[in-house]
Amino acid sequence: MLISIFSPKGGVGKTTLALGFAEVISQNQSVCIIEFDFSPGDFSAILDLDITKNVLMATKYNFADNVQRPQDAKYDVIVGGFPDAHERIPRDEFDRMVRRVEEKYDVVLVDIQPGFIERAIDVLNRSDAVLLIAEDDYRVAARINGFLDWIMVNNINQAKNFFFVVNRKKGKEIQFLDKMQNRLPFFYEVPFIKDLKGHKDNRLEKHIKTMYEKIQQAVQVTAIEI
Ligand SMILES: Nc1ncnc2c1ncn2[C@@H]1O[C@H](COP(=O)(O)OP(=O)(O)O)[C@@H](O)[C@H]1O
Ligand SMILES: [Mg+2]
Repeated sequence: MLISIFSPKGGVGKTTLALGFAEVISQNQSVCIIEFDFSPGDFSAILDLDITKNVLMATKYNFADNVQRPQDAKYDVIVGGFPDAHERIPRDEFDRMVRRVEEKYDVVLVDIQPGFIERAIDVLNRSDAVLLIAEDDYRVAARINGFLDWIMVNNINQAKNFFFVVNRKKGKEIQFLDKMQNRLPFFYEVPFIKDLKGHKDNRLEKHIKTMYEKIQQAVQVTAIEI
């Protein structure tokens, strides 16, 4: 299963949720998480990994030589790399590399950086689930709206297996995401967790477990429909 974590806006909690999913899923299944973020990405710093073994290297050479396992983790990681790296990654070869990773692991997670998606289109298209992460903020709502416009116009994925996740939700009511012209139903709402202790925080884990169960169910239903 291929799960992409994406948002057209940065700072909404993509990486935190993506790593949280890796923690939770790797308790029962084999997991590899790929960082497709060169802005630069945070994986190497957060997980204390070697940034020279990165997506570019994994794409150009053998991916298995560029997979790393963080200390105390049960999942493997391919880190993003330097800001100029994505321009040097051929789209087809990147896609091929992801397919190889998919063959080896039960679940592949891809943390996709905002703004730049050309090379990630194939991954979004092929994903069994795309978690579209948003925050209830007018700037984020505007970006999501524009992104969904772009998706519809370009016929990408047709937003079929997009799961709209509201993260860092404060208060009871949704204010801005509710008023978007292009709307997806809310799939899950993760509350704002005070003094969050990173992706391993127990309070976050609980939500991620529930979300993963819901994703598995939804993906099964879609598979039967097809
Ligand atoms: N549910 C949450 N509650 C509180 N803080 C959160 C939550 N999710 C993420 N954060 C915090 O938000 C900040 C941005 O998260 P990050 O995962 O780096 O975003 P992105 O990858 O989208 O840029 C981090 O400081 C992270 O700890
Ligand atoms: Mg990030």
